[in-house]
Amino acid sequence: MGRLVVVSNRTANLAKKNQAGGLTVGIIDALRSQGGLWMGWDGNVQDAVGDLRRSEHGNISILTTPLTNAEHEQYYLGFSNKVLWPAFHNRLDLMDYRTEFVDRYSAVNERFAKLLAPQLENDDVIWIHDYHLMPMAAELRKLGIDNRIGFFLHIPFPPVDVFSAVPRHPWLRYCLLQYDLVGFQTLNDVHNFHRYLEEHSDADIISPELVRVRERTVHIGHYPIGIDVKQFAQTSSKPDDAVELERMRRKVLRRFQLISADRLDYSKGLPHRIKAFRKFLDLYPEYQGHAEYLQIASPSREDVSAYGDIRAELEQLAGAVNGKFADFNWAPIQYINRSIPRTKLAPLFKSSLIGLITPLRDGMNLVAKEYVAAQDDSDPGILILSKFAGAAEELREAILVNPYNIQEVAEAIHKAATMPLEERQLRHRKLLRRVTDHDAQWWQRKYLNALLGHAEQQAQSSGRLAPAEAHPNV
Ligand code: G6P
Repeated sequence: MGRLVVVSNRTANLAKKNQAGGLTVGIIDALRSQGGLWMGWDGNVQDAVGDLRRSEHGNISILTTPLTNAEHEQYYLGFSNKVLWPAFHNRLDLMDYRTEFVDRYSAVNERFAKLLAPQLENDDVIWIHDYHLMPMAAELRKLGIDNRIGFFLHIPFPPVDVFSAVPRHPWLRYCLLQYDLVGFQTLNDVHNFHRYLEEHSDADIISPELVRVRERTVHIGHYPIGIDVKQFAQTSSKPDDAVELERMRRKVLRRFQLISADRLDYSKGLPHRIKAFRKFLDLYPEYQGHAEYLQIASPSREDVSAYGDIRAELEQLAGAVNGKFADFNWAPIQYINRSIPRTKLAPLFKSSLIGLITPLRDGMNLVAKEYVAAQDDSDPGILILSKFAGAAEELREAILVNPYNIQEVAEAIHKAATMPLEERQLRHRKLLRRVTDHDAQWWQRKYLNALLGHAEQQAQSSGRLAPAEAHPNV
């Protein structure tokens, strides 16, 4: 294999040590072993079109460009986060489609491809990430780039009726079929994609992993993302005085903590979760004064109105619970609306009896895996996990819940709070084994092996769909 070339909307900040999440760790690991490039948006927005900037970190080059105001508005906030994000999370009601969004989305992908193409070498393997950049392969192919190109979708792929409600879905399908490998998080996503192809294309589904479109074969698979288990477990064991003091205070007062940490996003089900905690306090009043729920919600995409709405709703709901139940020396909900460094988050997970991870829809949810990795084997906490998080396909020994069913989640909290130590240990052992087996390194190796394996077959057996045969504007 030649160099690895990664393209994602955002790149990692390699200058910041120990702050990287599992995904970044996995990609950096792959980049270090192969050498390569990582290209993306630098996070800045300006009036004029910016150049490509390059910074070197050993054998990894980071290439970044700012977005223009119009690109930020229409490509990032617009088509990516007001159309694709809500639709792919089953929220067609929040989808706000405009033709200028999709035009700019296409134009940014074209611009990124034109910036990247001159940097490429013949045997580079290109790995494109996430919904912002679905058309990258099609744009690179137009420029004559014939390298192996894989795509990985970090968010769920929606059911056929939902995807087919996204304007320009045939064009998105065409774009996806320009990759050599299309990777998803879960088997459920693969099934959704297959069903969509069956109903809306003339693609021939040869096997669950192989689709043929005219002379072109595209591989499809699921590759659940993992975390760096060792690093997170180590971070969780580093003493943090403030966290330790709180843990001791709770112990003396016979209290326990529930924890959730999310981006403040409507897909995460935060209002439902607060309602479920309120129901729990109503149904099991003996826990009033004893259960403390810490919700960390880091601000996200605040220029999109749906995100402002969820913030206001959450503050109102949390305030109402505290108003009703709090006493002078106990508040049921602690709500933190900012990011917390991972060095603090890991010990907080470790000191919480319950990890309450109940998104309404989620591609994977690495917080669920981090919660498992942070636990103390001898006295582990218990994970309550939404069955609509991708992680639920693997983490079957969590207490799996329907996050829309407030009563069910309230009862799950009770079950977790009363679960005997032996059962917690048994469930934890199994969960930890799975999280450890399927870690960040496993994920990137499995994906890249599939991409490389496929590339060989493709070279032997087929040509690509020629641009003249395609219908990008359908
Ligand atoms: C999700 C997406 C990522 C994205 C992240 C943060 O996890 O799958 O691609 O980077 O959210 O969102 P933001 O819009 O701040 O990049």
